[in-house]
Amino acid sequence: MKFREAVVDYYKIFGPEYEPENIIPTAGSSAALYISLASVLREGDEVLMWSPSFAGHYRILRELGVKASIAPLLRETGYHPHLDALEDHVSPDTKAILICNPNNPTGTVFTEKELRTIGDIALDYELTVFSDEIYLHFVYDDNRFVSTAFLEGLKERTFNIMSFSKTFSMTGWRLGYTIVPEKCIEKATKIARITAPKPATFVYAAGIAALRGDMSYVEERKQAYDKRRRYFCKAVDDIDGLSCHLFEGAFYAWFDARSYGLGSEEFCRRLQEEENVALSPGHRFGVNTNGFIRVPLVQPMEILEDVIERLSRFVHSL
Ligand SMILES: Cc1ncc(COP(=O)(O)O)c(C=O)c1O
Repeated sequence: MKFREAVVDYYKIFGPEYEPENIIPTAGSSAALYISLASVLREGDEVLMWSPSFAGHYRILRELGVKASIAPLLRETGYHPHLDALEDHVSPDTKAILICNPNNPTGTVFTEKELRTIGDIALDYELTVFSDEIYLHFVYDDNRFVSTAFLEGLKERTFNIMSFSKTFSMTGWRLGYTIVPEKCIEKATKIARITAPKPATFVYAAGIAALRGDMSYVEERKQAYDKRRRYFCKAVDDIDGLSCHLFEGAFYAWFDARSYGLGSEEFCRRLQEEENVALSPGHRFGVNTNGFIRVPLVQPMEILEDVIERLSRFVHSL
C-alpha cells in the first residue's frame, strides 16, 4: 500500500488525483502495458495508434490478435499528427487509442490541442485510452507534457503506463505500474495476477525512495540529455545525406538515412561491422520507417562524439 500511496502523491505533479486502488505495480512497464491492453482488448478488435512508435506496442497487439490502425507521424509535419485525418482511422472494430507521449522514437510531445482532439475521438466513439508516459520528465524547450487523464472526461477511460526505467534510470530493477480507470480495476487486477509477476518486495522500498526523494537527480539527467540532444542531432544533420530533427522529448535521435538506399537493417549491420557502432534499425518502429535509424543518447558526450566521427566516415565510404 505504501508504494501505491507514493505513486498517488507523485502523480499529483501532473494533475490527476487517484486512489491507491487504481495503481497496479508491475515488474517493469512492459508488463504494465500487457496487463492494460489484455484487460480491455479481444482478438479482432482494432486500436488507433501512430507510426513510428515503440516496437513493444506492436508486439503485444500482434500477440493479442488485435489490429493496429496506424496514423502516420511524418517528418514533413514535425512528427506531429494530422488532426483532421485522425477520425478516418476509426472503424466499427476500434476499441482503443494507444499513445506514447513523449513518443519513442520520434520524441514527439503531443500538444494539449492534439490530446484534446484525440480525447474527443475517444469520448465520441467510447474508446479506452492507453497512455504510455514513461518519458514524461524528459521534455525540452517550450514543450510541455500534458497527462491525457488530466483532460476533462478522460480520466475515467485512460490507463497511464509508467516505469522507473527511464525517469530514475532503474531499468534493471524492473519496476513499473499502470494507473487503471475505476471500471477496469477488477479485470486488470485479475489479468495481472494470472500473467505477470509482481515486483520483488524489497524493490518497492527503492521505488518509494525514488518517488518521495530528492528529484534533482531527474532534472540533472534531463539537462544532460538536453545537451547531448543539441549536439548530436545537429551533428548528424550536418553529415551529407542524413537528416535529423531536434526532438522535443524522450532521449532518442531519429534520423533519416534513406538517401543512401540501404534500408535500416543493412545500414545498421554494415555500420556495426565496419565501425563497431550498434544503432537500432528504424523499420522495427512501425510502417514506412525503413531507412530511418534510432540512437539512444544514453552515453556520455565523448562516446557520442566518437559515434559521429565513425558514422560520418561510414556514410562517406558508401
Ligand atoms: C515507450 C516505452 N514503453 C515501455 C518500455 C518498456 O520499459 P520497461 O519495461 O523497462 O519499464 C520502453 C522501453 O524502452 C519504451 O520505450
